[in-house]
Amino acid sequence: MLVGDNELLEMFDHVLRLSRVDETQSVAVLKSANSNPRLVWAAMEAAQRLKAKVYGVELPSHNYRSYTSFDPTGYVGETALTGHEAAKKALGAADLIIDTMLLLHSPEQGEMLNAGSRMLLVIEPPEILARMLPTEDDKRRVMAGVRRLEQARSMTVQSDAGTDLRCDLGQYPCVAEYGFADEPGRWDHWPSGFLFTWANEGTTQGRIVIDTGDIILPFKRYAQSPITLDIEDGYIRKFSGGFDAEHLKTYMMTFRDPEVFAISHLGWGLQDRAQWTALGLYDRGESDAIDGRAFYGNFLFSTGPNTEAGGSRNTACHMDIPLRRCSIQLDGEAMVTRGIVIPEDQAIPGYQSPFD
Ligand SMILES: [Fe+2]
Repeated sequence: MLVGDNELLEMFDHVLRLSRVDETQSVAVLKSANSNPRLVWAAMEAAQRLKAKVYGVELPSHNYRSYTSFDPTGYVGETALTGHEAAKKALGAADLIIDTMLLLHSPEQGEMLNAGSRMLLVIEPPEILARMLPTEDDKRRVMAGVRRLEQARSMTVQSDAGTDLRCDLGQYPCVAEYGFADEPGRWDHWPSGFLFTWANEGTTQGRIVIDTGDIILPFKRYAQSPITLDIEDGYIRKFSGGFDAEHLKTYMMTFRDPEVFAISHLGWGLQDRAQWTALGLYDRGESDAIDGRAFYGNFLFSTGPNTEAGGSRNTACHMDIPLRRCSIQLDGEAMVTRGIVIPEDQAIPGYQSPFD
């Protein structure tokens, strides 16, 4: 099914209202060669209808000699905005920046947020935006998780597949992704519905097992065989397994940067409208795979940069890897047990997990 222009406009109207756009607000729409022109059009139109002061900022396309895919998350940190002070000033002057290009993990994004601009990333196709149109209830549940994560001082993760991980928490902020940007300095991504933080530097220890069927991003594929990652003092020290382990390790090594092996953000998914199965139904170029990152009860871990958290690890390789059927505890209290969200304030009554 396809989302028509009228529905797309209504969706943008809904999300911009949740993002507190009105006649007092200025809205900049950032676009580049990889932007979906329909999203740019709808963002501009919907902001105008809300009587905001809207303008576009178009940046030239940007390539990396070492780039090996068209996925915008395949090489992060350096963007067309890097070193472009004039464009940064133009964008940073807006109350809300709608990013249809992908500034995520760039130092420039952090600078503009710290200066008070809000930012909303919108890069998924309209049909995925429609399925996961954000709600106030998404925000309520994600923020309930964030309040627990902010107080926690340790996280442990286990699975029957063999994951057994522990880390200390508290050094870095927590990030709530609920699909709209309603507070000064807030970044969000429509669609989303998950939360995460970063382990204290050097404290992540143990083992992660990526099981057959778990999702590896930005490869945008399901693992066909288990991959075991031995982790010591915050870094992956050893990859074990078959082809999938060799592929993952070799891909990361091509960046020729030891920092790519650092563990980055850790958290869990709370979006029941995101589907683990969706990745198998879209061509790789059609989606940025938010379904995998957000599906309900996942354990999402990642590797590489921590610039989003205010850290200095600005490395270009960022893997997002959501696992199924994990159990996550904060200071010994269960948040997720074998893929089922436990706390009442985060759970969806009557939700039937496909992983039971
Ligand atoms: Fe990530």
